[in-house]
Amino acid sequence: MFQKKIKEICTKFQLTDTEIVEIENQKKYYEHPRAIAIEALKIVQKKRGWISDPVIYAISKIININPSELDGIATFYSQIFRKPVGRNVIRYCDSSVCYVNGYKLIKIALEKCLKIKIGQTTKDYKFTLLPVCCLGNCDQGPTMMINEKTYSKLTPESIPYLLELYK
Ligand code: FES
Repeated sequence: MFQKKIKEICTKFQLTDTEIVEIENQKKYYEHPRAIAIEALKIVQKKRGWISDPVIYAISKIININPSELDGIATFYSQIFRKPVGRNVIRYCDSSVCYVNGYKLIKIALEKCLKIKIGQTTKDYKFTLLPVCCLGNCDQGPTMMINEKTYSKLTPESIPYLLELYK
């Protein structure tokens, strides 16, 4: 819920002209504001890295949707970050097929190498570690994504080498 004080902060915040234009451009592709919501959130997240409360409020004004409703959409959609994340976001699959193929050892290796637990960000803000439902790569599991790149048939031994590529 957007309380009065938060609302005051949010009303002073402004998106950039570029962000506003890009969101406005989406209106020609979608009939309903809710349909624009995810695209609008992605546009701003791409530039800022995450979606703060003031951003929620600013986008809601542009696409004419209740801020609480937009907050609900942003929170539900796993690709939208409501808290600051690291420069590299690791999403490892914890669904059934990857589970059978040994995802637990991958999780342990990731936590050990990064010295963080699930849902945390490294102190230097280089990595955030998040679990995710099936990445649609089940026959190649265990699977994870680092940013937009998918890594398949992972082994615990491969994790330090892969992480090194992003340091
Ligand atoms: S179960 Fe892991 S990618 Fe589908």
